[in-house]
Amino acid sequence: MKMHSNTIFITGGTSGIGKGLAEAFHRLGNQVIIGGRREDRLRSVCATNPGMRHFVLDVTDLASIRNTARKVIAEFPALNCVFNNAGMQRRHDFAGGKPVDDAAVVAEIQTNLLGLIRVSSEFLPHLKNQQDAILLNVSSGLAFVPLSIFPVYCATKAAVHSFSLSLRRQLKDSKVKVIELIPPYVATELGGGATPPSGALRPMPLETFIVETMKELEGNEDEIAIGGSKNLLAATAPESVRKIFDGMNH
Ligand SMILES: NC(=O)c1ccc[n+]([C@@H]2O[C@H](COP(=O)([O-])OP(=O)(O)OC[C@H]3O[C@@H](n4cnc5c(N)ncnc54)[C@H](OP(=O)(O)O)[C@@H]3O)[C@@H](O)[C@H]2O)c1
Repeated sequence: MKMHSNTIFITGGTSGIGKGLAEAFHRLGNQVIIGGRREDRLRSVCATNPGMRHFVLDVTDLASIRNTARKVIAEFPALNCVFNNAGMQRRHDFAGGKPVDDAAVVAEIQTNLLGLIRVSSEFLPHLKNQQDAILLNVSSGLAFVPLSIFPVYCATKAAVHSFSLSLRRQLKDSKVKVIELIPPYVATELGGGATPPSGALRPMPLETFIVETMKELEGNEDEIAIGGSKNLLAATAPESVRKIFDGMNH
């Protein structure tokens, strides 16, 4: 994608990957707008990055998404990129002998999947009329090979991958490029940001992840897998699967 002269709206810009990408694109001189629920965090990210703007947004709330989309588009008519990054992760034990936390399951599906679908739906009519338009969806290496302690999270990310394939196909004759960003395990606040036990898989430092992602974004790939996610994507989405997809969707 073009790395300069963009107007980019990023959901979940208050911490981790969203904040890291927001700051990296801001440093390159792009107009960056961030969304998230924690207004104090939004204000502080914008204060340390003069010119960056924010809107309070809860992606589990359709009215909040619609209001935010309307305001962002009205105030930034040059908006050409939307990054669907907001996400959450919870553990669920379906073998524990009692029902899992239903509210947590609903929040996870609404945040990671329904929110991403609704944000896409609200912004696409605008993006379709922009040059160099990008819709970037953040999935996960766990979309391809699940980690069973996070069963709902992994299912939502597999759905984000599937949704991104369909969106890309539907938009193939439009000006909108759909990118799926596939992070590995990265050190952020996700799932509480607990330090992994010794011997466990070590997270990629956030700074390294952002540098590698920015480098990859300069290219023209539709699916950008970073670090360990490269192997997971290659193993589960080989050329034969792509051929079947093309055959079914010509
Ligand atoms: N870290 C990893 O290992 C990893 C690996 C693969 C994929 N990912 C994906 O990367 C994305 C970013 O995660 P992260 O690792 O950077 O985690 P993080 O540090 O916890 O950041 C999550 C972001 O999502 C926002 N968010 C959560 N619920 C929201 C809601 N209802 N409405 C609006 N914003 C909401 C949070 O902002 P507020 O709380 O202020 O709303 C925060 O800015 C997620 O989609 C995650 O699944 C992460």
